[in-house]
Amino acid sequence: MKRQYFPTTTTFTLLWLAAILAPIVTLPPISGDENDQYTKCGVLFNCGSLTGIDYPFSSRDRPEECGHPGLKLACENNTATILINNLKYRVLDLDQKAQILKIARSDLSQNPCTEELKNTTLDWGLFEYASSYMNLTFLYGCPSLGVMVPYQFDCPVKGIAERSGYVELGVGAPLSGFCHVSIVVPVSYPSLVNFTDLVQLEELVAKGFEVRYKVDSGACRECRNSRGRCGWDVTGKRFACFCSDQSAAESKTCAATVVGAAGSYSSRAPTATVAPSASARIVRWKLTKLRKP
Ligand SMILES: *[C@@H]1O[C@H](CO)[C@@H](O)[C@H](O)[C@H]1NC(C)=O
Ligand SMILES: *[C@@H]1O[C@H](CO)[C@@H](O)[C@H](O)[C@H]1NC(C)=O
Ligand SMILES: *[C@@H]1O[C@H](CO)[C@@H](O)[C@H](O)[C@H]1NC(C)=O
Ligand SMILES: *[C@@H]1O[C@H](CO)[C@@H](O)[C@H](O)[C@H]1NC(C)=O
Repeated sequence: MKRQYFPTTTTFTLLWLAAILAPIVTLPPISGDENDQYTKCGVLFNCGSLTGIDYPFSSRDRPEECGHPGLKLACENNTATILINNLKYRVLDLDQKAQILKIARSDLSQNPCTEELKNTTLDWGLFEYASSYMNLTFLYGCPSLGVMVPYQFDCPVKGIAERSGYVELGVGAPLSGFCHVSIVVPVSYPSLVNFTDLVQLEELVAKGFEVRYKVDSGACRECRNSRGRCGWDVTGKRFACFCSDQSAAESKTCAATVVGAAGSYSSRAPTATVAPSASARIVRWKLTKLRKP
């Protein structure tokens, strides 16, 4: 009698446990992670005068799966910044429709003395100049020329006795042969017309230059039209479209899943029907094990 009673109690306990645990155990792997990306990528980047920035940009509050890996924004002292080839730029303006960034080297915004004696080399796979610009060459560690040269400055350079510096227009200008280091810095061309002294030159550098980011916007448009949120497939290194109920990383749209405002609720239905049948399967499997001698 007792032997018959035992499995019945176990069955009841198992069913009861499965009913309670099933929604907790089965829901997160199916929809939780993907919903998480959808939610996270809905957060917009705001910093100073830049507001409402989303894909293809990521930031502290928009994790890496929300933007292109080369377009990570930060916010310092109410100014947006971006790292390009390990050099920090201030983002002065951002036109998401035209895909144009106006950037200026952060290290050269105050004066020509910088620790980062590096050329302004952008990632040309991702960026291109968006408007006319001109190269300036900043020369460091030069001997004092003893004559008046426009755009002359004084900066210490590590390990070099000569402290004089000059700015020349263009690249490969005549003075460069006398100096230890030179860096090329682009500036916006139209504003170059009026510069006459170093202070104005510095203002010019601080005003930056415009680059276009070459990220295909077509896929994102399709994704948004289907009520998805644009993002980045970090492992696949490609565009991803996140939907409110599931990942659509394989396609660019959240087709068929969301129709109308009730969509986000009805889309949970498949998950709900999966859970009981799965737990029923577990119960059946456990019962089979119990019946074995
Ligand atoms: C932000 O402000 C602090 C204090 O004024 C300064 O030390 C720091 O260099 C600033 N950072 C940037 C990126 O301008
Ligand atoms: C920057 O580029 C110029 C020519 O384009 C080159 O002569 C110079 O050595 C480079 N400077 C650095 C620091 O790499
Ligand atoms: C600026 O300098 C780079 C090399 O540092 C060169 O490739 C580019 O053509 C120059 N642009 C202009 C407008 O002179
Ligand atoms: C240059 O200066 C002239 C007169 O001083 C002014 O009319 C013009 O708008 C200035 N150009 C730029 C690009 O600032």
